[in-house]
Amino acid sequence: MKTSASLREYYDDWDSYDQELLGDGYYVPVRTAQLTFPFLKHGQRILDVGCGTGLVGYYLRRLGWTGELIGVDLAKRRLAEAKKKNVYTELIPANAYKLPFPDASFDAVISSGVLGLAGPMALEQMILKTKPGGVIAATVGDIMNIGIAHRRFVRVVSRIKGQKKCFLGVTHDLGTGYTSDKNNERYYLYIMRKNA
Ligand SMILES: C[S@@+](CC[C@H](N)C(=O)[O-])C[C@H]1O[C@@H](n2cnc3c(N)ncnc32)[C@H](O)[C@@H]1O
Repeated sequence: MKTSASLREYYDDWDSYDQELLGDGYYVPVRTAQLTFPFLKHGQRILDVGCGTGLVGYYLRRLGWTGELIGVDLAKRRLAEAKKKNVYTELIPANAYKLPFPDASFDAVISSGVLGLAGPMALEQMILKTKPGGVIAATVGDIMNIGIAHRRFVRVVSRIKGQKKCFLGVTHDLGTGYTSDKNNERYYLYIMRKNA
């Protein structure tokens, strides 16, 4: 797993994220938005953790979702790109491991393409910031299909469930995450509800 500093540097240095990834048919954010949308209500307050260039927000708005959408990311340059999409209420530089919001302050907390990199423990923060009864939607991606990030994530989810903090609604196998076969990755989306 990479450190937050190296991830920030890596994503701050990446010039054409949208062109490159969407060019390879990267569909993780669009599927995350589509599959999470039925669990959301209009007018809610939602947090997008590791929002990057703002693809999840863009697709949620395309689906017609209306409400307050806050995006956070380590990389300021990604946030500047997300701003251009004009779909976030607010964009804030922050680490997924220390989200700068009061506990239980969001109706839903979403994260696409981040926890396989940042590590599964960031899920604890996402749950902490979700209101009781709220929704947590997080993807985990495994590079080279080796399954390590996913296995770690599953362990964290089962511990959290054991502590009765949330229950698992659905799990989606998102396949390779790309319509091109360029990347040998495997993505899963977990949609959970925080216990009331
Ligand atoms: C693969 S991109 C995903 C971006 C976007 N959510 C998407 O699906 O296109 C990963 C993003 O996570 C951010 N990131 C990585 N570790 C993070 C952390 N600890 N806290 C906040 N953001 C982080 C990176 O800066 C990058 O923008």
